[in-house]
Amino acid sequence: MIRLVNSLILLACILCATVSTPVSTPTVLSVPFRKKVSGRTRSLKALIARDLSRFSVDAAAAVGSAPATNEDDTYVVVTKIGAQNFELIVSTGSGNTWVGSGATRYVGGTTSSLKQANISSSGTQFTDTAVIAGLSISQQSFGNASRSSGFEGVDGVIGLGPVVLTEDTVSGLATVPTVLDNLFLQGTIPTEVLGVSFAPESGADFNDINGELTFGGTDSTKFVGEITFVGKTTTSPYSDFWGIAVTSITYRGVTIGAAANAAVDTGTTLIYIPTIVYNTFAVASGGKTDPETGLLTWTALPTANLEFNIGGVAFTLTPSQFTIPAAQYANFGLAPGKFYGWISDGGNVTANINFVFGQKFLENYYSVYDTTNNRLGLATRA
Ligand SMILES: *[C@@H]1O[C@H](CO)[C@@H](O)[C@H](O)[C@H]1NC(C)=O
Ligand SMILES: *[C@@H]1O[C@H](CO)[C@@H](O)[C@H](O)[C@H]1NC(C)=O
Ligand SMILES: *[C@@H]1O[C@H](CO)[C@@H](O)[C@H](O)[C@H]1NC(C)=O
Repeated sequence: MIRLVNSLILLACILCATVSTPVSTPTVLSVPFRKKVSGRTRSLKALIARDLSRFSVDAAAAVGSAPATNEDDTYVVVTKIGAQNFELIVSTGSGNTWVGSGATRYVGGTTSSLKQANISSSGTQFTDTAVIAGLSISQQSFGNASRSSGFEGVDGVIGLGPVVLTEDTVSGLATVPTVLDNLFLQGTIPTEVLGVSFAPESGADFNDINGELTFGGTDSTKFVGEITFVGKTTTSPYSDFWGIAVTSITYRGVTIGAAANAAVDTGTTLIYIPTIVYNTFAVASGGKTDPETGLLTWTALPTANLEFNIGGVAFTLTPSQFTIPAAQYANFGLAPGKFYGWISDGGNVTANINFVFGQKFLENYYSVYDTTNNRLGLATRA
């Protein structure tokens, strides 16, 4: 997600979030989360545009609003804020947590709810108690979006990305502690680690409860073998996100992409690779971009694996992993007789993030967001 821009900053923070004394027994807890499709549109072109707008410099420069999200096809987790339950998009590409102006409106009014700052026309900042996975967070700061266009079909976004993404979003605060920061600072979790497990949707439906978030550690039942850890990149703009170095990309054993950085984002649906790599992959695999859907398509299923080399390990996607299952064609309005890729063109604007491991990669690999050790881990899904 884009960094919220300066136009969002207004009034000074009067009451900043406090850090309570650590409790004695930090715990590691997991919570299931589910796939959710807003039903607003089944247009893949629109979905790709929304995915890409999350990281676009142009979007960041636009008039401030609630963060760019892709609520078309996403994963949500129930989070209690104050007295209400919200279904929030699980986003490791966002720092700020927001509730929206959709069906569930934040009513506030609890004794712990404090109006903290006015965030321009896009909403107001509050603090309140949040509960996720049974873990309680006191004084969690979050935005209450005022625009009706924000978060259709979902209630908002839970920001599980680096705290630097919250920089300059609330005046008077350099950054706004994220949900994970507060869980750690308040002594609720032993280490600031988030483990994320996804699984590919099975069958023709869209609402499998197939994800799991683990706060404070990892769930060893969700992956096999070792976790490969790589340091968080220091190269901008990837350094603001869960960015990592990819050593190379190969197809059929041939290098199609040189060393590059990539963002790992649970809030992005597809996988995006830089234009030059995308074009090389299309030629090497015999595919072409379908003008109707914007997807890479093939008349026959490709026969080789795509490999991302990260931290000395090849993370492989087989053809059936990088193409849309036929059972889901009807939902996306796709014509039979062709194969469609989950891998799309991330663009060639170097100031933008154009290499993103979204859900369609993460459904095959367990991911670990380790803020304490400034590293990201990947392992094969169980
Ligand atoms: C939160 O924003 C919605 C509009 O999006 C509004 O209806 C609601 O009253 C706001 N909540 C509070 C506590 O101000
Ligand atoms: C928030 O700021 C806008 C623009 O300056 C102003 O019109 C509005 O009244 C303010 N709202 C609150 C609750 O302070
Ligand atoms: C970037 O992509 C656009 C179209 O997507 C193309 O017109 C342009 O030539 C490309 N630029 C570079 C440097 O590859």
